[in-house]
Amino acid sequence: MPNPVNVLCIGAGYVGGPTMAVIADRCPHARVTVVDINADRIAAWNSDTLPIYEPGLDEVVRRVRGRNLFFSTDIACGIRDADIIFVSVNTPTKNFGEGCGRAADLQHWEKTARQILANSTANKIVVEKSTLPVRTAQAMDRILNSNTRGLRFEVVSNPEFLAEGSAIRDLENPDRVLIGSHETPEGRRARRAVADLYASWVPRERIIESNIWSAELSKLAANAFLAQRISSINSISALCEVTEADVDEVAYAVGTDSRIGPRFLKASVGFGGSCFHKDILNLVYIAESYGLHEVARYWESVVRMNDWQEARFVRRMLANMFNTVAGKRIALFGFAFKANTGDTRESPAIVVTRQLLADHAHVVITDPKALDNARHDLAGVDGHVEFEADPYKAAEGAHAIAVLTEWDVYKELDYKRILESMERPAFVFDGRNILDHRRLFELGFNVFPIGKSPLKQP
Ligand code: NAD
Ligand code: UDX
Repeated sequence: MPNPVNVLCIGAGYVGGPTMAVIADRCPHARVTVVDINADRIAAWNSDTLPIYEPGLDEVVRRVRGRNLFFSTDIACGIRDADIIFVSVNTPTKNFGEGCGRAADLQHWEKTARQILANSTANKIVVEKSTLPVRTAQAMDRILNSNTRGLRFEVVSNPEFLAEGSAIRDLENPDRVLIGSHETPEGRRARRAVADLYASWVPRERIIESNIWSAELSKLAANAFLAQRISSINSISALCEVTEADVDEVAYAVGTDSRIGPRFLKASVGFGGSCFHKDILNLVYIAESYGLHEVARYWESVVRMNDWQEARFVRRMLANMFNTVAGKRIALFGFAFKANTGDTRESPAIVVTRQLLADHAHVVITDPKALDNARHDLAGVDGHVEFEADPYKAAEGAHAIAVLTEWDVYKELDYKRILESMERPAFVFDGRNILDHRRLFELGFNVFPIGKSPLKQP
């Protein structure tokens, strides 16, 4: 059994909560505490209704909470007792001042560094778990090691690659764990201490050690590469629609080239989520700040293509619904940015809803897990919007259904029953290509998939 170790995570969000639950589960020798300034969130982590929905998370938390996993608001005490501190606070895009709309907002990050400094009475390893601009560790180092009490903090970068909806699976069986540190004896020792935690369940060959700047930059680069694949296939989807090619067939043909690979080539209404936009925009900002304008323009185009795809989806709805949706009831199937999560951050559904409302549609939103977040996202927005848990009721009296999240439940609905309750002509715009388009057409729907010829009733 390895030596006991006290682990603290600052930030009990989508990353901090699940990551620490899995570390506690797989490292019985570790006492893991997760702290947050948000008392409601901590109370929820300590309750039967966890603050986030993630398949498999409840089971892991139930196994370890109170054993070696603790949730608390006592940040000072958590810092004092910890040997290793993961910092997993939010790093959203700045919405003010210099770099507004692009740069990462590091205010939570810096506050955390100062809190660590103020409450530490011994040397510590501080792990960057949040996604941060490359070279953030330099600032972190300077703040932490500015102390005059002889304390030494070793900063390590250990970016998180989990995807929401599959977080527990990703954490339990990661493609890789990346740990970067300064290439000094102390830095390498800290890196190894963090690697030893993961080695309790991750094979050593999947634990990559690197210099700290490579680790920071690899996280931004990985997200940019993933999003780039989606923008690439989405750009091709537009071409498919005008050439009678089928985007799923093209993606399959392209993806079977082993140099390209099949994953992340699913055409859609657009990518959402809290990471892709913000991390690419951050990469763009960093490139700009080094004077690398071509690099910045290159990555910026990935986000621009995504914005265009979202807008194009609504334009296609309008064009095919006789150029007006004013006063028409439109049911949105799904509001989460992807299936198996209640998270709606940067969801394409937000853009689609706003554009439909601007065109005076009556929008009815249904989603198995994201209705609370949807209400929050659309609070104060002008226009007629309803929230309805039951997709059958959402579709009643609607002119169109738009599928915006690939929830399995939407594949299994009784579309004959749904059609009978809708206005005619009835439209389905499948923003995720998950439905059986031929069958819907045979039932009597006008069907508009992404990147495929529409199936229109005579
Ligand atoms: P989140 O908003 O869900 O959680 C962040 C938490 O940090 C919040 O609960 C907030 O209250 C808390 N916090 C902020 N400042 C604090 C402070 N000074 N002291 C204590 N707590 C504080 O964010 P998230 O989705 O968990 O993301 C966290 C980081 O991980 C971000 O940098 C993100 O880019 C990165 N990341 C996210 C994902 C993902 O899928 N969500 C995946 C990989 C990496
Ligand atoms: C992403 C990265 O995958 C993960 O490694 C990182 O740690 C955080 O950011 P996440 O945003 O949770 O994870 O989900 P992801 O599965 O990447 O999906 C992002 C968006 O792209 C979703 O809106 C999804 O629907 C969309 N998507 C994904 C597509 O449109 N097509 C695809 O082929 C794949």
